[in-house]
Amino acid sequence: MSLPLVIAVDGPAASGKGTIAKRLAGEFHLPMLDTGLLYRAVGQRMTDLGLDLDDEAAAERTACDFQLEWLVDERLRARAAGEQASRVARYPGLRAALRQFQQDFARQPGGAVLDGRDIGTVIAPDAPVKLWIDADVTVRAHRRYRELAGRGESVAEADILADLVARDTRDAPQMQIAADAIRLDTTHLNVEEAVAAALAAVRKRLHI
Ligand code: DC
Repeated sequence: MSLPLVIAVDGPAASGKGTIAKRLAGEFHLPMLDTGLLYRAVGQRMTDLGLDLDDEAAAERTACDFQLEWLVDERLRARAAGEQASRVARYPGLRAALRQFQQDFARQPGGAVLDGRDIGTVIAPDAPVKLWIDADVTVRAHRRYRELAGRGESVAEADILADLVARDTRDAPQMQIAADAIRLDTTHLNVEEAVAAALAAVRKRLHI
């Protein structure tokens, strides 16, 4: 019997990891979890409850109460939710509270694709395939700008760039590149090229 195929797709905000993870999941018929949504959902919940995002104990309590239905919320895709998530994601207690859910998802019998920051190092260190997706921060800002504009959110590209630079700094302690990760820089690749490169790298790693 072959081992479950777990694919960890990590990288900084707007690197293209979400798109790549989705396409890999489709290609290998695997369920996929966007783990950033969990952190976004906890941040959103705290805001809805009027809790202070700098209150570490409240953040941990909120994560302990995490409910799947919190993920069904269009607001989680907005710029503000990403900022909120990045602020609360630094708390170890909150990260620990969200860990089991992610690990259970990764341990499904047939395997899974998870995208995030620490999938290959903390959540699924035994994953047979790990990708680290990156791109120049100005290119990432442009992609995020187009994505938000496409959803009707009007934000200046320069503000998005500033957000991403701040987010990279804040997320740095959580962004761990696994020693056995395949690194893919998508700066000069369009979506189809990035997906093709990721797919080729996965097939090579699996010898298929
Ligand atoms: O991938 P994203 O933009 O949806 O993530 C939002 C924030 O959540 C990100 O700035 C850092 C945090 N995050 C994390 O710390 N660990 C993860 N596995 C996923 C996201």
